[in-house]
Amino acid sequence: MASWMFKSLLAIGALSVVLAGCSDSKNEMDHSKMNMEGTQQAPKETTDTKTVKPAVLTGKGIDLTASVSNQEIAPGKTLPVWTFNNSVPGPQIRVKQGDTVKINLKNQLPEPVTIHWHGVPVPNAMDGIPGVTQNAVQPGQSFTYEFKADVPGTYWYHSHQDSVNQLDRGLYGSFVVEGNNEDKADRDYTLMLDEWMSSGEMSGMNMSGGKMSGMDHSMMNMGHDMSMYDLYTINGKSGSLVDQLPVKQGDKVRIRLINAGYLSHQIHLHGHEYKVISADGQPINNPGILKDNVISIAPGERYDIEFVANNPGKWLIEDHGGNTAVKGMKATIVYEGAATGSDKANESEKLAAVDISRYGQAGKATFTLGQKYTLEYTMNLNTEMKNGDMVYTINGKTFPKTEPINVKKGDTIKVRLVNNSKTDDHPMHLHGHFFQVLSKNGKPLEGSPLIKDTLNLKPGEEYVVAFEADNEGNWMFHCHDLHHASSGMVTELKYTDYKADFVADPHAGNKPE
Ligand code: C2O
Ligand code: CU
Repeated sequence: MASWMFKSLLAIGALSVVLAGCSDSKNEMDHSKMNMEGTQQAPKETTDTKTVKPAVLTGKGIDLTASVSNQEIAPGKTLPVWTFNNSVPGPQIRVKQGDTVKINLKNQLPEPVTIHWHGVPVPNAMDGIPGVTQNAVQPGQSFTYEFKADVPGTYWYHSHQDSVNQLDRGLYGSFVVEGNNEDKADRDYTLMLDEWMSSGEMSGMNMSGGKMSGMDHSMMNMGHDMSMYDLYTINGKSGSLVDQLPVKQGDKVRIRLINAGYLSHQIHLHGHEYKVISADGQPINNPGILKDNVISIAPGERYDIEFVANNPGKWLIEDHGGNTAVKGMKATIVYEGAATGSDKANESEKLAAVDISRYGQAGKATFTLGQKYTLEYTMNLNTEMKNGDMVYTINGKTFPKTEPINVKKGDTIKVRLVNNSKTDDHPMHLHGHFFQVLSKNGKPLEGSPLIKDTLNLKPGEEYVVAFEADNEGNWMFHCHDLHHASSGMVTELKYTDYKADFVADPHAGNKPE
């Protein structure tokens, strides 16, 4: 490890402030406690946030300090990581619907950084895209994000500067907006899923002068052999290091699944019937009861599940993805007083995935397939070799040469997405807007209206989605396998009447994708 890194590690250790507490943003106690270094506050009894460190919103806002650190990812395996507030994931930011959120980003990294609020419909200037909505925040500098959290749900935040690398190193955390009229669960857990390389290559030290080293580049030429990710984690920990999830008999338990990695995971809850109550934070209408189905969660997606703790013992929630790394991706639900249990893994059992396009009950929706739209657009997603490099294209082009979707406020837009790649999934994410999913492979959706910001397309699949241009700005629309995004699969939704109020600095090193 370079000596500058040791120095910054020491400096950061001395400066770090422990942010912890309950989710009550109006609590004066929190305000005073937050200013005291190292003050820990017990989580509220009803909402158990033990699995992810929470941060408390006060008038001054929440400080998120980006810095270099180390973390024991698997037993005996400590990796160099990049963190918000010294841990992966960074603190959970939990606010109430209607709260004004203020986040002070302080950059103590050797590289520029930004924060993007994945899924949250923020004003464009707060979206955190270097060179598009702001200049990347330089080492030693800070930037304040401020926006109103209007739409309840499960979201997350992450760096959007050189994000294929910065996200991989750990610069992410969860962001939860509690609805004003929602009935609270007795336990509310957040599980952030991710994958690491035990060699520490990408998540660490082989950067020089901000460029990817030969090692990373040769991996790109191979078309991203994803088996290099051999350590799977829940909340930054693998295997026996993963925090247990305590419950009491009779509890209503909510688990927020967030995929911060670049691979899909097949998550199975043992021993209980459950419901998927939201997708990408947006409610499912009248969700049906499931058992022994896995939830397939793609990069960038979120699914919230709910169940009643009615089967005392110890039970796993685990990845059934079918390779050896899934062994690390398990958390144990432990009933109070359950000395023994049946926390048996069966991760190699093949179980059918919930088909979210036919789940829940039809209900009131904004858009229909047959209606008139201001604009219709097709995105053909593909994988190609160009000049000896594997690239990921939209309509045959790579970013920044891809054609933007040009709109005006109030337009309605229908997008047909087609995955022509032979083997690659493309989890496509639109910034600043939700879209309604209208059809899958030519068939209209049958279940609940499905509102998402990230939609996974498997090879050969075709989806039609629709949205209203209701949030002016310049917005990214890209694949959330960020290897694909950094190799071309990015376009923009551009409001032609919008003028960004920042000036891009050519010396800022802005890397938006
Ligand atoms: Cu998670 Cu461009 O986003
Ligand atoms: Cu992709």
